[in-house]
Amino acid sequence: MRTPARLAPLLEAELIDSVAFQLMSGKEADVFVVHCGDELRCAKVYKDAKNRSFKQMSQYTEGRSVKNSRQARAMNSKSKFGREEHEAEWQRTEVDSLALLAVAGVRVPKTYAFLDGVLLMEMIRDENGDPAPRLNDREYDSARALKYHGALVRDVVRMLCAGIVHGDLSEFNVLDAHDGPVIIDLPQAVQATANNASVMLTRDVTRLATYLGRFHPPLLKTQYAAEIWNLFKSGKLKPDTPLTGVHVGSGRKADVGEVLSAIEGAHEDELERLGLKPKTFKAH
Ligand SMILES: Nc1ncnc2c1ncn2[C@@H]1O[C@H](COP(=O)(O)OP(=O)(O)OP(=O)(O)O)[C@@H](O)[C@H]1O
Ligand SMILES: [Mg+2]
Repeated sequence: MRTPARLAPLLEAELIDSVAFQLMSGKEADVFVVHCGDELRCAKVYKDAKNRSFKQMSQYTEGRSVKNSRQARAMNSKSKFGREEHEAEWQRTEVDSLALLAVAGVRVPKTYAFLDGVLLMEMIRDENGDPAPRLNDREYDSARALKYHGALVRDVVRMLCAGIVHGDLSEFNVLDAHDGPVIIDLPQAVQATANNASVMLTRDVTRLATYLGRFHPPLLKTQYAAEIWNLFKSGKLKPDTPLTGVHVGSGRKADVGEVLSAIEGAHEDELERLGLKPKTFKAH
């Protein structure tokens, strides 16, 4: 296909040879499949900040560190420069997190370059060599759901040990690759020391259990988030710490119903925003 303008700098810098096709147009980015030598890779082109809601931005920026005070002042202002700083910070978080997590042993796409708001990364493939589908695009048998859940909870633990909480983990941001689940989409990642980190972690872990629990219902009763967070808080969490899914110690049971209904609400909002929610007609 003709090279989209946003990809021209990568072509000029010889980071890519040509653009094969557009894979997806998401909320925050357009993703293209590109040729690099004899390999196919993905180029994620970030969209303008105005396409994201302010509420989402403020929730996520709470846990981020900003390198200098000029940047911090700019990000708090509503100026064009402030917006651009937000934008750069948002993209930088994804690039930095992917690099850090790869070193920490989390299965994420390998990154190759970041230029002019475009991230060049490994194309995650399914068993046919095609771009991998999302967990949401597939049905699982009980054994596979349990296996994937185990792998993803372990990746969440590795992430936390590396100081990061994903913040938007769900069946929409995990790809089903030939070698197992791969976590993507990290611009909203927060630091594990942020005030909202435990809430984000609980939401991430509960969403995974809710989706995979459809295929393996015992997962719905697990309490990995509380168990992981308690171990982390007391300095006992290691990347390979064995977990049970049973949370003991707080003396207080998590209100699973409340967490699930909050998640369901967030999911419906998301589907509605994406225009995927079926309309309901009331009988009169
Ligand atoms: N490295 C990759 N390999 C294969 N497919 C990818 C890769 N990165 C992204 N994709 C595809 O592009 C889609 C959008 O990517 P991503 O989730 O990072 O951006 P987004 O703007 O947040 O999109 P969304 O609004 O769908 O969450 C993914 O759901 C996935 O299908
Ligand atoms: Mg996404």
